[in-house]
Amino acid sequence: MRDPRRVGILISGRGSNMRALVEKAAGYEIAVVASNKPQAPGLDWAREHGLPAWTWDSKGVDKEEFDRAMSSALEDHQVGTIALAGFMRILSPRFIEQWRGRIVNIHPSLLPKYRGLDTHVRALEAGDPVGGCSVHIVTEELDAGDVLGQAEVAIEPGDTALTLEQRVLAAEHELYPRILSEFVNR
Ligand code: GRF
Repeated sequence: MRDPRRVGILISGRGSNMRALVEKAAGYEIAVVASNKPQAPGLDWAREHGLPAWTWDSKGVDKEEFDRAMSSALEDHQVGTIALAGFMRILSPRFIEQWRGRIVNIHPSLLPKYRGLDTHVRALEAGDPVGGCSVHIVTEELDAGDVLGQAEVAIEPGDTALTLEQRVLAAEHELYPRILSEFVNR
């Protein structure tokens, strides 16, 4: 059994949650940052900060083949826990089975509300008084695994999807490192 405190972070884009996980790491260490997008800005930041980085452009690559290669890379770095941070690709059932119970994700809604995309637009359209974010276990069903922790953010009059997203993102950056640390030190 790998040490759960050795964390592999998966990103596809800007990586602001990855940064928060790195900068606020307590009780865990970042073993590797992996991406399915070689141009992901977050990868440059990771490399500049001396973190091992793995990437393979997933475009046009068979999903199982990609996931097998990524899994080997994570194994090579002795990863015990995988933290998804804006990883915009559905993982194959085989990958999820292999890492069962050891993959977590941050999602920008108060799950079980608003699984999937456009969470802030949907919260605003519903007239919700609060939005927020959730850290949850990743299973085969999208955004449906056990919730490990949540943060609420008040929705203000005049909020747009953009202003709400910005405030929720700031809450994500506080929530994710805290919940990840609790999770790997249970
Ligand atoms: C965040 O909104 C996160 O909740 C969602 O994807 C976005 C990633 O943003 N899963 P970043 O790459 O961490 O800045």
